[in-house]
Amino acid sequence: MAATHPFRDELIATASTIGTPGKGILAADESTGTIGKRFANINVENNAENRRAYRELLVTTEGLEEHISGVILFDETARDTVSDGRTMIECLTSRGIVAGIKVDKGPRNVFSGIEGETVTQGLDNLDVRAAEYYAMGCRFAKWRAVLKIDVASGAPSALAIHENAVTLARYAQICQQNGLAPIVEPEILMDGTHDLATAVAVNVKVQAAVIEALHEHNVLLEGCILKPNMVVPGQDCPTRASPQDIAKATITTLRRTIPPALPSINFLSGGLSEEQATVYLNEMNKLPGRPWTVAFSYGRALQKSVLEAWSGSADNVPAAQAALLERAKANGLATLGQYESDGTVAEDSSLFESNYVY
Ligand code: 13P
Repeated sequence: MAATHPFRDELIATASTIGTPGKGILAADESTGTIGKRFANINVENNAENRRAYRELLVTTEGLEEHISGVILFDETARDTVSDGRTMIECLTSRGIVAGIKVDKGPRNVFSGIEGETVTQGLDNLDVRAAEYYAMGCRFAKWRAVLKIDVASGAPSALAIHENAVTLARYAQICQQNGLAPIVEPEILMDGTHDLATAVAVNVKVQAAVIEALHEHNVLLEGCILKPNMVVPGQDCPTRASPQDIAKATITTLRRTIPPALPSINFLSGGLSEEQATVYLNEMNKLPGRPWTVAFSYGRALQKSVLEAWSGSADNVPAAQAALLERAKANGLATLGQYESDGTVAEDSSLFESNYVY
C-alpha cells in the first residue's frame, strides 16, 4: 500500500504560501565556505559574528514580507539569534515569512558517471535532521542536485540524470514525512558551449526524470516546490539569446514536463546578473500558459548589491537593507510580469562562476 502523508494539509499550505503571486524566496543558505567567498569579495573576515551580523541584516529588513514568502537558511543561521535575542527563525515567521533549511551536504563525485559529474550527499540521518528542523520552526527544505551539459563527452549521462532524480525524490519523500515541504532543485549549470535548443532538450530530459522519480517515491506534488535553472545557451556558446527567447525556451521546457499539481516554480539565478535574473523572470510572466506560480529563489541575484552596500560595517546596514528591498521588490513585480527594466541587461555584469559550488 502506498505510504500516507501525515502532514498532507500543512505541506500543501506551506507550498501554496511560498507560491503566493508577487513573492518569492531569498536563498540565504550559503555554506560557511561559500559565504566566505562572498565576504572575501568585500574584504570581510569569514567569522561567526560577521556571518551572524550579515544574516541578521537580511532577516530583519523591514517590509521584506511584502515581496519575500520564504527564506532558506544554513544550519548555523537556523540556530542563531539576532541582537534582541529572538531566533532568526522567529524574526521570519513572526512576519509570515516561511523559514526553510538547506539539508543537502553538497555534490560529490561518488559514482561512475562521466568525468566531473556528481551526486548530492546528505540522505543519511535526514529523517532525524528534518524532524529537528521542523521542531525548530522550519517548514520547508532545500536540496541542490547539480548536472552539467558537455556535448563532447555526452554529459549529462543517463546515470547522472537517474541517480540525481532518485536522490532528489528520496530527499523529498523523507522531508514530507517529517512536515517539511521540499524544494526540489535539479540545477543544470550554465557552463558549456551548447546552444539554446540543446539546453531545451537536456532540460526536458532532466525535468521529466525528476518528476517520474517523485511519482515513484510517492511524493505529494501539491506539497512540493521546483527550483530549476532558467534555460539558457551555454556560457561559451557563440550565439547569445534574447530575454524573450530565454523566457520562451524555459516556459516551453516546463510546460512539457511539470504537472499543474505542483504549485510553484522558483528559479535559481545560477550566475545570471541581478538584472538578467529579474528581466528573464518578468518575460516569462508575460507569456500565456503558466499553470504554476513562476517566481524566484535567488541567492546571488538578490544579494550581490546587498553585500556591496554592507561591506561589513554596521553603519551601512540601512543602505544594505534598502538594496535588498529594491531587488526583492523588482523580482516580486517580475513574478507578475510588471517589472519595468531600465534597459541595462546586456551591459550588466554576470555573476557566473565556472562549476559553481553553493
Ligand atoms: P543562486 O541564485 O546564487 O544560483 O543560488 C540559489 C541557490 O539556492 C542554489 O542552490
